Amino acid sequence: MKTAGKLVVLGSINADHILNLESFPTPGETVTGNHYQVAFGGKGANQAVAAGRSGADIAFIACTGDDDTGARVRKQLTSDNIDVAPVSVVAGESTGVALIFVNGEGENVIGIHAGANAALSTERVAEQQTLIANASALLMQLESPVESVLAAARIAQQNQTTVALNPAPARQLSDELLALVDIITPNETEAEKLTGIAVSSDEDAARAARVLHEKGIRTVIITLGSRGVWASVNGEGKRVPGFKVKAIDTIAAGDTFNGALMTALLEEKPLDEAIRFAHAAAAIAVTRKGAQPSVPWRNEIDDFLAQQG
Ligand code: RIB
Repeated sequence: MKTAGKLVVLGSINADHILNLESFPTPGETVTGNHYQVAFGGKGANQAVAAGRSGADIAFIACTGDDDTGARVRKQLTSDNIDVAPVSVVAGESTGVALIFVNGEGENVIGIHAGANAALSTERVAEQQTLIANASALLMQLESPVESVLAAARIAQQNQTTVALNPAPARQLSDELLALVDIITPNETEAEKLTGIAVSSDEDAARAARVLHEKGIRTVIITLGSRGVWASVNGEGKRVPGFKVKAIDTIAAGDTFNGALMTALLEEKPLDEAIRFAHAAAAIAVTRKGAQPSVPWRNEIDDFLAQQG
């Protein structure tokens, strides 16, 4: 892995419309919420913000619409220490939207309108070839067209840029794409989608990790919610527990974990330590409402870790 260099995140940008309610409506039911918020989100943008706020040198490849939301998102990302030069403004398109319900337990359900995110084409990826080739690592998710994710992974692999994939939202992926990935971070649902193995114990996680290793992925980190993660390098696996906090809203918890993890790995922290750093960032995020409003800055993560002794 090239280290201490630039991180490139490729992914989505959404405006999240978030309604907090006691319990999710069932089909045909209307439920009145207790809190409504519009906040910036999108898995790609959330992970970029988590990396930027936690201290990475980062550029973001993404698309916004040519609307007011897009202009405001780009301004916000810049103030989060992100190079937005590779963020394209797509004429005639609207910025992506996510409609999110959060229930009393802090769980969420999400519906997406891709909008400009669907315009992150292989041609746009090719325009960023030099950026990807010169980076130390490339972090992607699956809210962008999968052929573009594949194109970016190919450029990265040809240039010894580490490919990290957070395979969210869950979908099946080709062996060709998986073989280009160096670090993968599925949750239990995503791990099952990719491997066919339902993950409900450490043993299941170890088996799912083995399948992903066989596809050519060296580092597999399966996130297990409040149980932490299963971290497996070349088949040597163990569980790394997270921190116990009172979660009020888990939106972007995984995104925060991924962005902070990449910051720590690019600082050459050993994997265990990098996971602990990412756990701390995610633990702070779940105590706050919304996606990007919940993502902590570096000093907050360091303070949290210092308090753990
Ligand atoms: O991972 C959380 C994100 O998923 C939200 O911010 C929403 O935009 C969806 O993309």
